[in-house]
Amino acid sequence: MRELFAACAEAHPNIALIKYWGNRDHRLNLPANNSISFNLEGLLTRTLVVFDSQLNRDRLIINGRERFRDPLKRVQRILAWVREDSGIYWNAHVISVNNFPEGVGIASSASAFAALALAASKAAGLHLDERNLSRLARIGSGSAARSVPDGFVEWRSGTGDHDSYAFTLFPPEYWDLWDCVAVVSTEPKPLGSQEGHLLAETSPIQWARVTDAPRRLDWCRKALKERDFESLAEVVELDSHLLHAVMQTSSPPMFYWEPTSVALMHQVRRWRKQGWNVCYTLDAGPNVHVICTSEVVQRLEHELQNFPGVLQVLTARVGKGARPLPLETCQDLLRQGGLSLSGVSRRGT
Ligand code: DP6
Repeated sequence: MRELFAACAEAHPNIALIKYWGNRDHRLNLPANNSISFNLEGLLTRTLVVFDSQLNRDRLIINGRERFRDPLKRVQRILAWVREDSGIYWNAHVISVNNFPEGVGIASSASAFAALALAASKAAGLHLDERNLSRLARIGSGSAARSVPDGFVEWRSGTGDHDSYAFTLFPPEYWDLWDCVAVVSTEPKPLGSQEGHLLAETSPIQWARVTDAPRRLDWCRKALKERDFESLAEVVELDSHLLHAVMQTSSPPMFYWEPTSVALMHQVRRWRKQGWNVCYTLDAGPNVHVICTSEVVQRLEHELQNFPGVLQVLTARVGKGARPLPLETCQDLLRQGGLSLSGVSRRGT
């Protein structure tokens, strides 16, 4: 008899205020330094995992299209861990959708692996606490560890696999911050974060960035605690500059900025001089994340939409962490996998 064990979950991507770049252990994604981020509420990945006793290989469908090779291999690292822990060795359907467009340079791997870790572990009957869920998500993508807990989050580098996980510093409502992402290019990246982490050590600046990280982390925690935007702005921009200094001085160098990215950085600093609570940060791509407080967000969105070279603006406030969903709300995903609610054992609700 065919048996199906299913669970569904959703999670948001996050934006790092203090960045993760470079690993102490590349296999386990143990980072060179702690990092701090907040979850982006408006943006969402929803993932269904169904362990199927009669399936002859793992299947991965993202945004309606079946994926093979690298994306499938990364997903199988999580599935392998879940199989080992649960004793359920069946193959799985993994079906995932994002509510934000692919190829706009918003990394979906953080939300994807956070949602996958939750859905896969629940489908296999495991009940991982937040800390172990964050550790599991970390195996798929480092920054995914930070999409598991709510709100403003710190990922502690730890001493090994057992204590490298993320936790909430402050809940989402602690401070009404927003991220307006100015999308400036939809070209695929020349080098992704996975290669970037490997190259970080080739930069002579990485050592200085990592050595100074505890000071920036303290500074950032204090600015968040005191809701001091001016202070937060300074440390967030400094940390972003350090990240890009490392990228630009790696061998081979990684240069992600476009002319519009640089023009926007100047403009954001001008707005701040005029008294707006705004600052910028850039990840491994040319898009500019403009962080702001709630009274500025509408004006900022309008200005960014009209800024020459900006293709699109995505706006998100501080969001919750990964959470399970009733299977009834994931029927569209079941259909995409050629499955239906009848015959499925719910493990996730
Ligand atoms: C520059 O290895 O987590 O965004 O390629 O999406 O798996 P993926 O990214 P990951 O590295 C993220 C690096 C960063 C900085 C950060 O988010 O801390």
